[in-house]
This record gives sequence, structure tokens and C-alpha cells, in this order.
Amino acid sequence: MAILVTGGAGYIGSHMVWALLDAGHEVVVVDRLSTGFRWAVAPAARFYLGDVGDVVILEQIFAENSIDAIIHFAGSIVVPDSVGDPLDYYDNNTGNTRTLLSTAIRAGIKNVIFSSTAAVYGTPDDCLPVKETALLRPENPYGRSKLMTEIMLRDSALAYDFRYVALRYFNVAGADAHGRAGQSSKRATHLLKVACEAALGERQGVDVYGTDYDTSDGTGVRDYIHVSDLVAAHLKALDYLSAGGASLVANCGYGEGYSVLDVLKTVQKVSGRRFEIRRRDRRPGDAAYVVADPSLARTVLDWVPTHDSLEHIVETALKWERRLVEVEGQDIEALRKRLSAIWQ
Ligand SMILES: NC(=O)c1ccc[n+]([C@@H]2O[C@H](COP(=O)([O-])OP(=O)(O)OC[C@H]3O[C@@H](n4cnc5c(N)ncnc54)[C@H](O)[C@@H]3O)[C@@H](O)[C@H]2O)c1
Repeated sequence: MAILVTGGAGYIGSHMVWALLDAGHEVVVVDRLSTGFRWAVAPAARFYLGDVGDVVILEQIFAENSIDAIIHFAGSIVVPDSVGDPLDYYDNNTGNTRTLLSTAIRAGIKNVIFSSTAAVYGTPDDCLPVKETALLRPENPYGRSKLMTEIMLRDSALAYDFRYVALRYFNVAGADAHGRAGQSSKRATHLLKVACEAALGERQGVDVYGTDYDTSDGTGVRDYIHVSDLVAAHLKALDYLSAGGASLVANCGYGEGYSVLDVLKTVQKVSGRRFEIRRRDRRPGDAAYVVADPSLARTVLDWVPTHDSLEHIVETALKWERRLVEVEGQDIEALRKRLSAIWQ
């Protein structure tokens, strides 16, 4: 199949592109490179520099390629930024998706996979793994902009001739085990990325927000999913839609939680480096325990994770971070050369 990957130059999108190529699909990427990198896109993919809110570039893509499905990663993802500039988040995550969707429907695209997030749940009422049927109470504009898009997809699928799978990602982490892709953003706020940076001496220690939660060690518990398992769920969703499956919303996590201290200790153990762990007050809106119930993805999509070990997640993330540190200060061509040596 020919798949359009929006945001294919970003962290998760770049892994998706590799996985699709590995599976023998044709891949077209559209990315405006606001947080992604041109060098992160596998050379065999066809790349368009552009915005998913731009009808002209989208129509060009649909005219020049016979697209069978869209996997839509493009979006803005930094929660505090969404609080400071909510309209930018509604614009990019909701408004631009609306443009993408209407142009895609006009072009006759029938299958769409959308990157949603556990942020649509907000703080779950209890400590059970959260099911898709839980109350949706996002606590920031980022989560609300994604929930609005889910609602838009649901309404549109009832009215027009297309079907979708919205995957609600939990905490995405790790890097491609072959070393072809990883989390490269300098502004990433993800715990594991920050911890790897601290282990490699790129930052002074790590702040832990909240050490008095009702959890085993007092710190927040989250469900960390390896990025390669996450993109594998998208491949399954693609198979599911191609086989005529009905529109679906499904969690993507392992159903197992690790505390902030578990993660930091694992990074210290795997890297063999100690770094300062600073205990800070709780942040408003941070839940004690957010873990997925992944039964739906496992049963309906037949998704079977194969990278579900925290040590493996940390090993791959550290390996990628080391590569970034090695090329730090060198020009982009040096990085491209190093990466193409791996690709061959
Ligand atoms: N990383 C996570 O833990 C996580 C968790 C839940 C959901 N998600 C969702 O997954 C998706 C991908 O996240 P990521 O971590 O890879 O982020 P990322 O910032 O690395 O990737 C996003 C990509 O989209 C591109 N982009 C943004 N707006 C665009 C636009 N209007 N037109 C074209 N390109 C655009 C960026 O340049 C970037 O390459 C996002 O939609 C995000 O909300 C991520």
C-alpha cells in the first residue's frame, strides 16, 4: 500500500516510516519541520515539505501519489506550551486536522489512523488501568485539542465514507533497536529522555515532581511503551482497516506501571552513571497513577508487544542519546553521513 505519514520527520513518525518500509509499503511523508528533522526521514520515503493545514500541498500529494491510507502524527505536543498558547494548539492539532480530513475525504481516502493521547482521560478516578470507556476529562488545551479531533473523526466517519482508528498513546519512550531513529528534539520533556541526558552529563540531574503520592515509593506511576511496539500497533490498525474493520478508539500501553524513581534508577543502572535526583513539590494536574488497559488493542487489533521491558526501553534510548551527543557540534551533513552508514 501507499501510506501518507504526516509528521514523519518527528520522533514517532520517523519510526513509523521505517516500520512501513520494512513491511514493504510505499511511504510518502509530509512535514513542516517545526520539531522534526529532514535527516530523520528514511531515504526511501518520498518527502514533501509542507503543512497539513495547507490544502494546496495536500492536493498535490493526493494528485501525485495513489494514497491508500493516512497515518496522522503531525501535531504540537508540549503541554505547558498549550497552556501558554492554547489557540496555537487548537489551530494545529484540531484545525489543521480538519483541513487534512476534508481534503483527504475529497480525494477519496478511506482509512485514517490518528495519534491520540492518554491526556484525553485527565486524572482517572481510581487506580485501575484505564479503559477506553473511562470519563474523558482532559486537563489542558493539548489534551482537549486531541479530544476535539477524536470527536471530529467520530462525527465525520458517521457522515462520510471513511473509517478511522484513533490510538491513545501512553508514555512513549525508547528508540529503534537498529539505531536508525530516536527522540532527537532538544525541547523534549519526556522523563526518560531527560534522564538519559542527565546520565550522559548533558544536564544537571533530574527533578521529581511529587514524592508523596499514594504509590509504592511516593512518585507518580506511568505506563511506558516502546516506540517500536507503538508503531507496530499502527501496522496492525492498518491491517484492521484494510480488512474492513469498523472505526475504533484503542489504548496503546502495556498495562504495567513504573514509578518515576523506577525509571531513574533503571537509567542509572543501565548507563552505569549516577546523577542528582531532586525532590520537588507536586505539579497541579499530575495524576498519581495512569496505566492503560490495553485489552482492546490486543484483542481487536491482535497487537502483541515485543519490546515490553523497561531495561530494553532504556538501553535503546541511551544508545540513541549517545549518538546525538557524539555528533553534537558537528554539522548536519556529518549526522546524515553517520546515519546513512547505519542505514546501509
Ligand atoms: N511522544 C509521546 O509521548 C506522545 C504521547 C501521546 C501522543 N503523542 C502524539 O503523537 C504524535 C507524534 O508525536 P511525537 O512525539 O513524534 O512529536 P514530534 O514533535 O517529534 O513530531 C511531530 C512532527 O509533526 C510535524 N508537524 C507538526 N505540526 C505540523 C503541521 N501542521 N504540518 C506538518 N507537519 C507538522 C513536526 O515537524 C514533527 O516532525 C503527536 O500528534 C502527539 O500528540 C505523542
